[in-house]
Amino acid sequence: MQTIKFSRFGFILAAVGSAVGLGNVWKFPYVTGEYGGGAFVLVYLITALFVGVFVLIAELLIGKLGQSDAVSMFEKLAVNNGKYWKFAGFIIIVPLIILSYYSVIIGWIFHYIVISFTALPSSIEESKEIFMTLLTSDVETQLFYHTVVFALVMGIILRGVKDGIEKINKILMPLLALILTILFVYSMSLDSFSSAVSFMFNPDFTKLSSTAVIVAIGQAFYTLSLGMGVILTYAASLPKNTNIVTSSLLITVIDTLVAVVAGLIIFTFLFDQGAESTKGPGLVFISLPAVFYEFGSIGTVLSISFFVAIAFAGVTSAISMLEPMVSYLISRFNYTRQKAALICSLFFYILGVLALLSNITEYSSFMMIGGKGLFDWLDFLASTILVPIGGIMAVLFVGHAMDANRINEELIPLLGKTLTKVWFFMVRYVIPAALVIVILNETGIFKF
Ligand code: PFF
Repeated sequence: MQTIKFSRFGFILAAVGSAVGLGNVWKFPYVTGEYGGGAFVLVYLITALFVGVFVLIAELLIGKLGQSDAVSMFEKLAVNNGKYWKFAGFIIIVPLIILSYYSVIIGWIFHYIVISFTALPSSIEESKEIFMTLLTSDVETQLFYHTVVFALVMGIILRGVKDGIEKINKILMPLLALILTILFVYSMSLDSFSSAVSFMFNPDFTKLSSTAVIVAIGQAFYTLSLGMGVILTYAASLPKNTNIVTSSLLITVIDTLVAVVAGLIIFTFLFDQGAESTKGPGLVFISLPAVFYEFGSIGTVLSISFFVAIAFAGVTSAISMLEPMVSYLISRFNYTRQKAALICSLFFYILGVLALLSNITEYSSFMMIGGKGLFDWLDFLASTILVPIGGIMAVLFVGHAMDANRINEELIPLLGKTLTKVWFFMVRYVIPAALVIVILNETGIFKF
């Protein structure tokens, strides 16, 4: 039983803090660029609404009814075979794996805040050079910032749900909203804003492939922190009488809004300087710094604000990745919070060090498996394979293993009979099938 609860507002902020992260401000804009703009955005919006909200409701239900750590909740909420279902709870290893390299990326962001203060690259070539040097040869800088993130994230988790997670979200999320609003208003004043709007909202369906649809489903899970035991762990500390349907809608709407606003800001800046839209993962670390340089002195302010905003978004997501395992160790093994936080943090720290070393040219040859470095393997394994698997387990669990009467009691007053039936149909059949397609496609077993 989770004794320490979030306040109602604190819960929404913490869940939004987890959801809004590098996935919104970095990944969403570049996949939008890669998969053709407007058509992808439209598919993403539909996916977020139908898949995202439905799965969020499922995870909030598990947390609300289970009120414990992830493993115990799967064990005790299963009508039958709890001793097998509990293994689904071990999905909480996934956010810890993601955290290992996510922390390294937050470290790069910290480094870029410093670069924004000192010297932005004056051309795209120079920008590429700076980023590639950091990535492939600068062990010290990456280690330094990875250590800073480790200390920061562990320090917050040590303070617990109320004084750590809730408090930091109450500070950082409003600041993030403020910075994004200022950047957004500024970008609206630029001529290229209308091009960014039409790029993101004029769907050109000839550019839409089945892969784009599959990528959109994967992105919805990743950006809403679903399928990883994160949301259900937070939901175990939900205050009583929280409406899980409106909470799910609110979390999805805010998360999507941030992604769209971040996309509009980034594309406006890029188009303003005549840069291209499709730049892949290098969009934020290569294209943007060079673009900020072109803006002159205001560019420095824009750059600092932008990277500070992503750092805030990243840190609030990072803490949500650590908490599930920490809460498991505390409740199942009676560990103190200190001991649990230290063990889990060391795990992600060490894995992160290995991940960052795998990008360093000098060592990468020893650390390549099948042409991919550890960093890329972790990302591929965790976010493309294990997240959909975790998602499948969560929806199958809610749809087939939990007491349907108990769920009806919760949902019918909120959704009505018909929508509750639709929801059951989605989580029992449609969403698991969609996630199987995602996995088959991403692993290349079967390309749709
Ligand atoms: N939702 C986060 C983002 O969009 O960046 C990523 C994330 C958060 C992944 C929490 C995993 C997790 F456990």
